[in-house]
Amino acid sequence: MVKDLLSSFLEVQDLSVEIGNVQVLRHISFDLGKGARLGVIGESGSGKSITARALFGDLPPNSTSTGKIRVGGNSVLDLDKGDLDTMRRTLLSLIPQNPGMTLDPSMKIQRQISEVLTPSGVDAADRALALLTQMGFDGDETEIMQRYPHQLSGGQRQRIAIAIAIGSNPELLVADEPTSSLDSLLARDMIEVIKAYAISTSSTVLLITHNLEEVSNLCTDVAVLYRGNLVEIGPVDRIFDHPQHPYTDALVKSYKELYGSRRYLERAERSTNDYVATAHSSSCPYYTSCPKAAKRCLSEAPTPISTKTGVMCHFPL
Ligand SMILES: Nc1ncnc2c1ncn2[C@@H]1O[C@H](COP(=O)(O)OP(=O)(O)OP(=O)(O)O)[C@@H](O)[C@H]1O
Ligand code: SF4
Ligand SMILES: [Mg+2]
Repeated sequence: MVKDLLSSFLEVQDLSVEIGNVQVLRHISFDLGKGARLGVIGESGSGKSITARALFGDLPPNSTSTGKIRVGGNSVLDLDKGDLDTMRRTLLSLIPQNPGMTLDPSMKIQRQISEVLTPSGVDAADRALALLTQMGFDGDETEIMQRYPHQLSGGQRQRIAIAIAIGSNPELLVADEPTSSLDSLLARDMIEVIKAYAISTSSTVLLITHNLEEVSNLCTDVAVLYRGNLVEIGPVDRIFDHPQHPYTDALVKSYKELYGSRRYLERAERSTNDYVATAHSSSCPYYTSCPKAAKRCLSEAPTPISTKTGVMCHFPL
């Protein structure tokens, strides 16, 4: 396995994914340097989790993909199982959207956490305890350690998944809605934990969320997905203050109007997504919902983004 020192630690080039006959990602390109923290937002079904799974080399079995993904110089889509496992152990951690599915139901929490901790002078059990304290298990860490996953609530499992991901000391942390089962105070704490880890280790983070406040708090950059297309990417402040894609503009406005509530944001997102096929594959994917749509948008799809910052639109705002 090759591990080059690259200025771009994570590179995604022209990635397209089909599951069955459905194209779920189309010509996605972006790259992140070491220490960059990218928030990925977009309505349900837009391809956020599939992007995360692609980075982890874990696409569904009936999928096909084209394009390139490089993590620390490793070409993820070309690795065999052994090299993929090595990469997952040494470079990359995923906090999956449903952590209950990935925790081992037959293993106590203590063992699951201790297994990922790399050897150091400090005893693994002590380090596991310290990690749980960091995750807000305030006083009941010892008891939690002796439980099996099914004996924990969804929120507790989610925090264990974050502990395991951070405990393995990854250079790239992919977090797929890591706070969805947590109340707002704990959610804020977990975002702070991830941020502190990322800053202290110069790790790269990809955070998938419906909560724009989390993106503001944690991320340096933001990517907006719409029906499998990357429609806008760039620095957080620029995109939230001056969105250029009409879909980003609608998303940010609806969030600002209903500020602070993820539940409402999801509803606002879904109201723009009727899940019917767009007019024609050679049209802009946002054509049927776009307030700025013009004739050209129906006959010609805008060019996919291939630079570090950009917008996929003929008539950016
Ligand atoms: N295992 C699978 N088999 C078939 N289709 C799938 C599978 N996983 C995802 N898809 C499809 O791929 C598309 C993208 O799904 P994905 O899970 O990435 O959405 P998402 O943006 O993460 O949504 P959410 O915000 O609800 O988590 C959807 O159309 C979904 O139905
Ligand atoms: S290309 Fe046209 S339809 Fe698509 S987002 Fe831009 S203005 Fe709207
Ligand atoms: Mg998802």
